[in-house]
Amino acid sequence: QTPGYDLWMNYKQIDNEKLNKSYQKATTSLAVLGKSETIQAIKNELQLALPQLLEKQPEIKSVVEERSSLIIATLDALPSNIKKQFSAAVDNLGDEGFIIKSIKIEKNTKLVVTAHTEIGLLYGTFRVLALMQQLEELTNLNLVDSPKIDIRMLNHWDNLDRTVERGYAGFSLWNWQKLPEYIDQRYVDYARANASIGINAVSLTNVNANALILTPMYLEKVKALAKTFRPYGIKVYLTARFSAPIEIGGLETADPLDQKVIDWWQAKADEIYSLIPNFGGFLVKANSEGQPGPQNYDRNHVDGANMMAKALAPHNGNVIWRAFVYSEHDADDRAKQAYSEFVPYDGKFLPNVLVQVKNGAIDFQPREPFHPMFGAMPKTHIMMEFQITKEYLGFSTHLVYLPKLYEEVLEADTYQEGKGSTVAKVLDGSLQGQQITGMAGVANIGNDLNWTGHPFGQADWYGFGRLAWDPYLDSEKIADEWLRMTFSNDEKFIAPIKEMMVTSREAVVNYMNPLGLHHIFDTGHHYGPGPWVSELSRPEWNPVYYHQADENGIGFDRTPSGSNATAQYAQPVAEMFNDPKTCPEEYLLWFHHLPWDYQLKNGETLWNGLAKKYQKGVNQVAKMQETWNQMKPYVSAEQHKEVNMLLTIQYKEAKWWRDACLLYFQTFSKQELPVGVEKPE
Ligand code: GCU
Repeated sequence: QTPGYDLWMNYKQIDNEKLNKSYQKATTSLAVLGKSETIQAIKNELQLALPQLLEKQPEIKSVVEERSSLIIATLDALPSNIKKQFSAAVDNLGDEGFIIKSIKIEKNTKLVVTAHTEIGLLYGTFRVLALMQQLEELTNLNLVDSPKIDIRMLNHWDNLDRTVERGYAGFSLWNWQKLPEYIDQRYVDYARANASIGINAVSLTNVNANALILTPMYLEKVKALAKTFRPYGIKVYLTARFSAPIEIGGLETADPLDQKVIDWWQAKADEIYSLIPNFGGFLVKANSEGQPGPQNYDRNHVDGANMMAKALAPHNGNVIWRAFVYSEHDADDRAKQAYSEFVPYDGKFLPNVLVQVKNGAIDFQPREPFHPMFGAMPKTHIMMEFQITKEYLGFSTHLVYLPKLYEEVLEADTYQEGKGSTVAKVLDGSLQGQQITGMAGVANIGNDLNWTGHPFGQADWYGFGRLAWDPYLDSEKIADEWLRMTFSNDEKFIAPIKEMMVTSREAVVNYMNPLGLHHIFDTGHHYGPGPWVSELSRPEWNPVYYHQADENGIGFDRTPSGSNATAQYAQPVAEMFNDPKTCPEEYLLWFHHLPWDYQLKNGETLWNGLAKKYQKGVNQVAKMQETWNQMKPYVSAEQHKEVNMLLTIQYKEAKWWRDACLLYFQTFSKQELPVGVEKPE
């Protein structure tokens, strides 16, 4: 098997003798109750995993016997003498939660996985396997877990010609030409991987949508994918191009208040649900970056979203309406536009609309302060959009562990309902009582042999899923789980590589965008450095717009003396950001334009501090290389070599970033590089 294809589900043999024995005992005889496709998926997974983990073919029965050692059954299906041991924990389980508990029946210990639904059982089964992979004891277990967020979603930005917008791991997984008849095994493995971390929704197509996906020919293909994913608890969503009624419906307008348009979307929704009864709904990018939307007809986001929501409501479908909007008309500060356009509509969206907000107000930068919309729309379902694909973080070439970034955003305190109003609490509805909650990640998956291009990109997919399930998890713990399941349980490997992963995010910030700098990427592809003036027509596409460096200093003034974007935050947050003395230094140049000799907290001048950050980023990558070099004994030769080559590129490019940015900014600061910062080669 190609290294990396099996992801974190490669089920390596348990070489700890004691645990192997105890797992053998726990799996002597399995009872998996039920007949559905989901139950079959559970059995398939056990049949795949156990022979590899324990070198034994499991015996799986459909009834509970005295000798059954592992029982997997919904609460309703459990024999009553077992069921009665579960009364206490079941109330808060929800539809997708599960319990894994060791119980005693007479003298026999049995491990029971139970849930209200079969999907809960599937999640519980994956957890049992994960515990084994991580060498955790299965004895004396009483584990109750359920997702804190309802919609845990991947957004694929896949085009119908199989190119992927901002995708760096090959072409799209979806082979539209061979669908619907040809079901690639990869679709099943993809669904398994998602289910193993609790992802329960996928949008198949690019947000820059092609209306063709809504035509009967494509819907047949979507149906085949939806059917493949259904046993794994995954609902399919499609991106809906707002002008589809014109492009594929033959109408003259797409005005959301026009009756013909309303009818067209209603009929389209009915048609889709007749093919795909568990269809999730539409994901819509409207009036952003040239995409059509209600504003083309002098209508607003509410008119557009609610019109579609009404079409989907009879089928329990959702509209996920994106808040990533900015236009040339509002160019004084692009960071302000989404909040200005959406917050006045709080309370106006129908209950089956979710507004999907990127984690920060610009665009998936290596570091951004949290988006001011979080917590600012208490009567709206606000959903998170993270990017898993690394558009601005070195594509699939640089090793950057993204759950660290996600965690930073989730922990950020919005103060919208007083201290402790974290983004995580906004998202899971616990702060403001939202009824539907969601978290989406723009997928980093393609048809590369290892799915994500960089072997460590798999950790971002894994970590995203884990945090969507529970946004309070610790990113370091997630790295630990992923490393154990993917590579090795050896502490001599885990400790240094975990350290490497959790520091990698700060490294990329240091060598690309330190101290709050942002969007100084080469325009268009967003890969390498390009802080200089570009040829692009719109001001906010030009990197100089973001750093505003001149002889007096550098940074974007977003305080009241500048664009006043800080006013969009709750007062304590705005006050903190407004004063350069209290503004966290990692956001300094995001919010302030400061002189080159401004004194940083450590006493250094801004110029020297900036230069040293760039150097630090380079040094951190060198350290990552050193660490990886020592890891030969723990990973396959191919994977060692692969990561080694990638780190060589990352090191070269970290220096490229340092040199390009410092040489360019030096033309303004007109100062020497401080001691310790290498001169450009
Ligand atoms: C970024 C990205 C685009 C994408 C857009 C979006 O601007 O560069 O490729 O379409 O975000 O999120 O809609």
